[in-house]
Formats: sequence, C-alpha cells, structure tokens
Amino acid sequence: MKPLVIRVDPLKIDLEKIKKAAGVIIKGGLVAFPTETVYGLGAAALDERAVAGIFSAKKRPLDDPLIVHIAENSGLKELVKVVPDKAKNLMEKFWPGPLTLVLKKRETVPDIVTTGLDTVAVRMPSGKIALKLIELSGTPIAAPSANLFGRPSPTSADHVEEDLGESVDVIIDGGDTDIGIESTVVAFSEDEVFILRPGGVTLEEIESVIGRVSICPPDNSLSASPGKYPRHYSPEAKVVLVEKGPGQKERVIREAQDNIGKGRKTGIMCFAGNVPAYQGFDVKELGPLEDARLSASRLFRIFREFDREGYDVIVAEGTEEEGLWAAIMNRIRKASAGS
Ligand code: TXA
Ligand code: MG
Repeated sequence: MKPLVIRVDPLKIDLEKIKKAAGVIIKGGLVAFPTETVYGLGAAALDERAVAGIFSAKKRPLDDPLIVHIAENSGLKELVKVVPDKAKNLMEKFWPGPLTLVLKKRETVPDIVTTGLDTVAVRMPSGKIALKLIELSGTPIAAPSANLFGRPSPTSADHVEEDLGESVDVIIDGGDTDIGIESTVVAFSEDEVFILRPGGVTLEEIESVIGRVSICPPDNSLSASPGKYPRHYSPEAKVVLVEKGPGQKERVIREAQDNIGKGRKTGIMCFAGNVPAYQGFDVKELGPLEDARLSASRLFRIFREFDREGYDVIVAEGTEEEGLWAAIMNRIRKASAGS
C-alpha cells in the first residue's frame, strides 16, 4: 500500500496532523519523519514488533543497532543506567541537536533495538516536527535514517518515498532537512570518549566542552557497526574520490576522461569555486570550501540526482577533514569504499 503523506509546515506546525502520525506510532506502525539532520524511519522504541518492522522495511542487517529519540531529558531515565559527567556536559551543550550518545542501557530497551549490545544510542533531535511527534506519541522513538540500507540518507520526503515507498505507513513531509548529514555518534569508555561517527556536531565543538576525544578505530568493541559495513551512504554510481593535493583538478579531469573513454556516463562533484575548471564535463557542485554547511546539506541529494540521471561514475573532489568537512569527507569516503 502507498504510504499516507502528511505535509507539515515546520514553521507553523499543525498539531492535528502530528497527532495523526503519533497515533500510527502508538499502534505499532512505521512513520518516516524529518529531523534537523536527515529523515528518520520511526517506530515505538519499546515495542519489539514495531521495531522489527524498521529492520525489514530498510532491509537492514539485524546486527546494526538503532538510535532512540527522546523529546526531553527526563526521557533518558527509562532507557539508560548511568550518564557519565562528560555525557551530561555534552547533553547540556548540544541537546536538542545532532549529537547521539551511546550509554549503558536498561532492561526496558528491547534487544532488537540495540542488537543485543549492553549500550543504547540516544539522541534528542532539534527538529520541531520530530520533537512534537515524540512528545505526542508518548514514547521514545527508535529511528534509523529512512533509506534502504546502504543508500544515501534521505534529506527530503521524496527520497524516503523513492526508497521505502510501500513499506512505511506514514511519511511526514516537512521539506528539506536543515543539516543534511547524520548526527555525531559518541561513546564513553572508563577513561576515554570516542567519536564513532562524525556528524552534525564537530570534533572541535565537542573538545571545546569536554577536552580531548578520540576517533574510534573501526575494530574497537565500542564501534557497533560503522566500521563493519564499509560501503555505506552509497549511490548506485561508482564514487571515485580524488584526494586534495598537488594537481587535484588535473587528476579529477584525467579520472573523468578515463571513465568516459571506457563508455561510462561520468559526472564530477566539485566545490563551488572550482566549476570553471571542469568545462565540458557534467558537473554538480557542493558549496564553496568556506561553507561546509551548504555542502553537507547538498551531498546526499547530489548523490541521488546522479543516480536518477543514470550516471555510472561520480568523480568527487576531496578536501581536508576539519570541522564539518570531517563528516562530509567521511560520507564521501564510505560511498567510495568498495567502488
Ligand atoms: O542523524 C541521525 O543520527 C539520524 C536521524 C534519523 O536521527 N539517524 C541515523 O541513524 O543516522 P542510523 O541508524 O542510520 O545510524 C545510527 C548509527 C549507526 O552507525 C549505528 O551503528 C550506531 O549509530 N549505533 C547505534 N547504536 C549503537 C550502539 N549501541 N553502540 C554503537 N553504535 C551504535
Ligand atoms: Mg543510516
């Protein structure tokens, strides 16, 4: 069955519409909804059967745990046992917002949500529609990004429809998401703080609050999955990343010509100022290097556009991994892994 699409103006939220979607969550259904990062595919987090529906709709492996979304700090108590001081500091500074904390879970959280781990990932989104949906549902909402497993995360309702069409009950269409890439996932060991996935809150911002943090090596036991599935966020097209460095533009051109010569429909994804360097090629632009936020908000949409237009290869410019660029480059790198 086609999903019910409910259009909601994020600047003037119609509560009756959100109530209708909340009713579907309460009954154990699946609701795709916008957050400030990307669209999520939500179900009542403490309802095992509802959560099982998320995995089957996304074709997601059962060993890739979900994020549980809450609308108020008080919602944390029923989910987790202890909140380390550094986690508290981060919550104060970045919640609601694009930060996910991995904490020791309580029994109340079904194993299917955490894929049997003794930790649960929790986030309080800042998107107003998301917050209202959680509040009116009266339950924490488990939600991964609302894409088919391995595809780029959806930043608009039509991306959700494209991937999950028949298998979701309701899609709340709140327009394009603001940030466009997912939340930063942070985990805590006895004496260290790890970033498991770079995202909307940068390493630099986190360190300014709690001091030194580490990037989690993929083989660390804290890292549930991000390293386990290297090819992720991928368009159908093969992504070829051309790293920053001397002669980058020439290398991009050579790579593109090479692929075109082999009969492959090839596009270039570059930074805004560099478009003139690629005259005669098919180019889609991220933002300028000075504006990582703009690039973040465009990245997944551009991947999907290349796919819709039937490209075989995307040659992507790389840059230094500072600030929000770390998250953007992480997604491009994963998209290109295995290509
Ligand atoms: O911005 C976001 O985070 C979006 C929106 C919808 O909130 N959600 C999202 O969820 O990106 P998902 O499932 O696509 O990514 C969740 C990430 C995965 O890499 C997963 O492995 C990790 O969080 N994760 C979840 N629970 C974990 C746990 N207990 N330990 C370690 N990593 C965990
Ligand atoms: Mg995802």
